[in-house]
Amino acid sequence: MEDSLSSAAITDNLKTKIIGQRVIYYPRLTSTMEVAKRAAKRGAVEGTVIVADEQTAGKGRIKRIWLSPKGNIALSIILHPGIVYLPALIMLASLAVVYSIETVTGLKLQIKWPNDVLINGKKVCGILIESDVRGNRVDYTIIGIGINVNLRLADFPELSPIATSLSDELGREVSRLDIIRRLLVEVERLYLALPSGESLYEPWRDRLVTLGRRVQVGWGKTGYEGIAESVATDGSLLLRRQDGSLTTVVAGDVTLRDRER
Ligand code: BTN
Repeated sequence: MEDSLSSAAITDNLKTKIIGQRVIYYPRLTSTMEVAKRAAKRGAVEGTVIVADEQTAGKGRIKRIWLSPKGNIALSIILHPGIVYLPALIMLASLAVVYSIETVTGLKLQIKWPNDVLINGKKVCGILIESDVRGNRVDYTIIGIGINVNLRLADFPELSPIATSLSDELGREVSRLDIIRRLLVEVERLYLALPSGESLYEPWRDRLVTLGRRVQVGWGKTGYEGIAESVATDGSLLLRRQDGSLTTVVAGDVTLRDRER
C-alpha cells in the first residue's frame, strides 16, 4: 500500500480550523513529545501536530519505552486548554482514537482505564498527555498518540500476548493517512465542544472494559487491588477494596485480573 506521510498529504483539504492546520513531519526523530515540547516552548500555534514515521526514543506512560517502528502512527498535538479542561483531555483523546479507527476500519474498540485503546482485549494504541502548568494557567498541553497500524506483532513475541495492530486484526494493511486525518477531525470536534459542556464522560465510561473487573493498579511504588467499581466525572477510578473501603485512584497503570462473577 502507498502510504507515505507528509505535511501536505495530512493537511490537504483537512476539514479542521485549528487541529492539524500546521503539521511538521519527520521521517525519524527521538520522540514527537520532545519535539512538540520544544515547539510549544517556542510558541507554536495551538493545534500544531508533530508526526513521525519512526521514533528512536518513543516515550510511554510511567517512564516506559514506547516501541515506534515504521508503519505505525506516532504524533503529538499541541494544545492550550483552560485548566478546567485538563481532566477531560484523557477522555477526549481516547474517544477520538476510538471514533477515528472505528470509522476508517469498522473494527470495534474498547478503552482500558485511563486511556489505553484495545481491540479484543489487546492494546492497539497508547496515549501520553503532558502539560506545563503555571499556577492556574496551562502553558501548553501535549497529547501524544501512538497507534499500531501496519505492524506484525508476530515479529515482537514479547508484545504479541498483550498488543495488536490494525493490520493484524484486519489481515490487510491500513492507510495511516486516513486514520490521522480522521483523528485530527475527531480531536477538533471534541475539543471545540468542551466549553459547551458536552459530556465526554458517558461515552468514555461506556467503553471502559475495566469496570466490574478485579484489577491491580500501580503508580510508582504504590499498588492497590480491588474491584473497579466505577469512574468519577473527573476521570478518576473508584476502587472497592477487599476491606469494603472505596479508594479514588487519580492516575496509574491497570492490570486486569479475573472477571468478577
Ligand atoms: C503508553 O504508555 O501507553 C503511552 C504511549 C504513548 C506513545 C506516543 S507515540 C507518539 C508520542 N511520542 C512519544 O514518544 N510517545 C507518544
